[in-house]
Amino acid sequence: MQTYKIFINGEWVNSVTGKTFSSLNPANEQILGEFQSCNYEDVNKAVNAAEKAYPEWSNVPAPKRGEFLLEIARLLRKNKERLGKLVTLEMGKIYKEALGDVQEAIDIFEYMAGEGRRLFGITTPSELKNKHCMTIRTPIGIVGLITPWNFPIAIPSWKISAALICGNTMIFKPSSDTPLCAVELVKILEKAGVPKGVVNLITGKGEDAGNAIIRNKKIRMISFTGSRDTGEFILKNSGIKKIGLELGGKNPIIIMDDANLELALEGVIWGAFGTSGQRCTAASRVIIHKKIKDKFEKMLLNKVKKLRLGNGLDKNTDIGPLVNKKALEKVHNYTQIGLKEGAKLICGGKLLNKKGYFYFPTIFTNVDKNMRIAQEEIFGPSLAIITVNNLQEAIEVCNSVQYGLSSSIYTNNIANAFTAMQKIEAGIVYINSSTIGSEVHLPFGGVKQTGNGTREGGVTGIDEFSEIKTIYVDYSGKLQKAQGIN
Ligand code: UN1
Repeated sequence: MQTYKIFINGEWVNSVTGKTFSSLNPANEQILGEFQSCNYEDVNKAVNAAEKAYPEWSNVPAPKRGEFLLEIARLLRKNKERLGKLVTLEMGKIYKEALGDVQEAIDIFEYMAGEGRRLFGITTPSELKNKHCMTIRTPIGIVGLITPWNFPIAIPSWKISAALICGNTMIFKPSSDTPLCAVELVKILEKAGVPKGVVNLITGKGEDAGNAIIRNKKIRMISFTGSRDTGEFILKNSGIKKIGLELGGKNPIIIMDDANLELALEGVIWGAFGTSGQRCTAASRVIIHKKIKDKFEKMLLNKVKKLRLGNGLDKNTDIGPLVNKKALEKVHNYTQIGLKEGAKLICGGKLLNKKGYFYFPTIFTNVDKNMRIAQEEIFGPSLAIITVNNLQEAIEVCNSVQYGLSSSIYTNNIANAFTAMQKIEAGIVYINSSTIGSEVHLPFGGVKQTGNGTREGGVTGIDEFSEIKTIYVDYSGKLQKAQGIN
């Protein structure tokens, strides 16, 4: 069994703890490798390396930094199939989607490379004569990136690409469910020639390594994607730092009585059961007009029964395993909760009797909007159908949860579409498309308990990873006072 190392100051080294943990293939519980269980001492070393690398890296002209990003994108493309396979092996999603995970990383590195020639500030007039006002962007400093397992290549890449182009140095700590993908991603950065100390990889548990990162005073910013509770913990325990959070979702698909039901059907299947429902953008609620509910439910059942559960590397598989045993237990526990609450289980609700963490696509109908299965993030292939009388009620149900990440409405009525766009409380609204599949050059993030106002992707990714400096240049040759003071 191979033991993998961490990456500090351009070198692959062991943790000071001498301890390791293993990463499993969720489809068959085979061990993929051993990884370093890091603690605060490892984090301190990584931070010192990032601190040493910072003056030089932050001084490289941004278009030149962009050249590293382009090289990373090229190497990712060259290794797309190999990395895609690793994604399936380590977190379970089917191979087609795993290739999409890697493609999303290629896209964001290419996009952010181009940002190196923009990184726009603003110029604006002064209220005084012979005075020039503008803003420039500066790096933040050392940043800590704490990433989830569900997009083990894409999400680290959103953060690393933006952090790099803005001139930061960083500590990257991936989820302990997907350390192998992280090691392989960092090897690509190393191969692309990213200078030593600029990106440092720490592996291990949130309680140890993660905790040390968020509390480290030299780290000026944390970007975290993961659960709401961990997000709140980070906010409360990080001290004064910039914090970017992408947390949970309970994303709805509204289906109106004027919708194209075939189209909505495909969107629901893809949104609810793609990645086995393990996306923070996954559709976990269908909010449907009463007139079409029975018809749509039949169509849905017909289709869902045909979905094949299995190993993601098998070409015939539609739905892969859940990431780990705990996730499987959580999803199954929610099935029991739904039953107890009186919702009607119309398919799934059980484990596959086989090694690996497989769970059948599960649908509850006659769900009340206040039930726990309609309110809490399950993060698995579990869908709640809620019936409504009209659009207004649909939007009320939609907004009745604590989260607000993604959302969707299927309708052929332009007024319905625009009303939903305006009234749904979410960071992302899709019209006649599913809740998943955001593109990297658009802002990604949510409202309410989903986040704290930051957005990744596109220029908003630059906002997240840079500071803004305001510059006043007075060339009048005298002391001019703003606000009319003389
Ligand atoms: C996530 O689940 O955390 O929009 C990210 C999507 C993907 C990203 C999902 N592009 O579904």
